[in-house]
Amino acid sequence: MPQIPGTDLTVSDLCLGANVFGWTADEATSFALLDRYEDATPGTLAPFVDTAEMYGDGRSEQILGGWMAERSMRDRVVVATKASPGRKEHPLSAPEIRAAAERSLRNLRTDRIDLYYAHYDDESTPLEETLRAMDELVQAGKVRHAAASNYSAKRLVEARETADRLGVRGYVALQPHYNLVERPAYETELRDVVAAQGMGVLPYFSLAKGFLTGKYRAGERVDSPRAPKASAYVGEHGDRVLAALEGVAGETGTTMAAVALRWLAEQPTVVAPIASARSVEQLADLLPVLDLRLTDEQRQRLTDASA
Ligand SMILES: NC(=O)c1ccc[n+]([C@@H]2O[C@H](COP(=O)([O-])OP(=O)(O)OC[C@H]3O[C@@H](n4cnc5c(N)ncnc54)[C@H](OP(=O)(O)O)[C@@H]3O)[C@@H](O)[C@H]2O)c1
Repeated sequence: MPQIPGTDLTVSDLCLGANVFGWTADEATSFALLDRYEDATPGTLAPFVDTAEMYGDGRSEQILGGWMAERSMRDRVVVATKASPGRKEHPLSAPEIRAAAERSLRNLRTDRIDLYYAHYDDESTPLEETLRAMDELVQAGKVRHAAASNYSAKRLVEARETADRLGVRGYVALQPHYNLVERPAYETELRDVVAAQGMGVLPYFSLAKGFLTGKYRAGERVDSPRAPKASAYVGEHGDRVLAALEGVAGETGTTMAAVALRWLAEQPTVVAPIASARSVEQLADLLPVLDLRLTDEQRQRLTDASA
C-alpha cells in the first residue's frame, strides 16, 4: 500500500494534480474530476490531491476547498499544498511561511494541511529558519508533515543535517520533476539522497505535460496551452519511449498514460506519481494505473527504451 515513509499517510497510487483547477478545467469540471477520482479510490486508501497557493493565485486551492466542504470530504482526502510566496525577497522566511500557510488554510476551508511543501528552495533564508517555521506549524497542528519540492541533492542533505541538529522532523518527502522522458536528474542525483534519508517521492509532470499519453506526434497539432513545451519531447528518444508504451499498453489492454504512470509508481523511492487531467474522459485513461501491474520484462523494456 502506498505510504509516505515515516508518516501515517496511506494514499492512492495516483495523486491527482490540481494545477488544472481554475486553469484548463473550470470549477464544474474540477468538481466532476474530483468526484470521479474519489469514486475510483479504494476505501482503505485516501484520495490524494496536490495543489499549491501559486496555482491560479489561490483559485486551485479554493476549488478543492469548495469541493471538500460541499461533499463533506475533508476527513477522507489527503491534501498536499505548497508554500509559494513568489516574488518575495525571502520567500521561505518564517513570516512568509506563516502567512502563506494561513492563506492556504483559508482557501482550502480546513484547519490542517496534510503535506505542506516548500514549493521552491530559497537559498536567501537559512534552512534553520525555514525548518523551524515548518515545525512550528506542525506543533500547532496546522500542518501534519513538511516536505520539499525542487530541492537539489546538496540542499536536501543540508536540510537533513539542519533538522537533526535542531531536533525537528524536517522534510518527509520530495516532489521532483521525474518521468519516463526526464530520468537523469532524479535518478543520478536525488534518488540516493532520498533513499538514504528514508523520504518518500511524489514525482510531478508524471505524464511529461501530456506527451506520454501519446497525443504528441511529429506533424500533429495539439490544442493545449501545454503544447509548446510538451511537443519538445517529439524526436528520436521520445518516439522510442512512445513505441514501448504503446507495446505494453497493447499487451495489458490499457492506455499508454496508465502504463507510463505505473512504470513511475514502481520505481524505487516513488510513493505515487502526480498527474492531472482536464476532463473526466482524460481522467478515465489515467485511472487504470490503480489496478495495473507490470511484469519485470515489461518494466525493463520501458526502462531500456527511455535510457
Ligand atoms: N512542484 C512543482 O514545481 C510542480 C510543477 C508542475 C506540476 N506540479 C504538480 O504536478 C501535477 C501534474 O503535473 P501537470 O498536471 O502539470 O502535468 P502532467 O500530469 O504531466 O500532464 C497532465 C496533462 O496531460 C494532458 N492529459 C492528461 N490525460 C490525458 C489524456 N488521457 N489524453 C490526452 N491528454 C491528457 C492534460 O493536458 P492538456 O489536455 O492541456 O493537454 C493534463 O492536464 C500538477 O497538477 C501539479 O499538482 C508540481
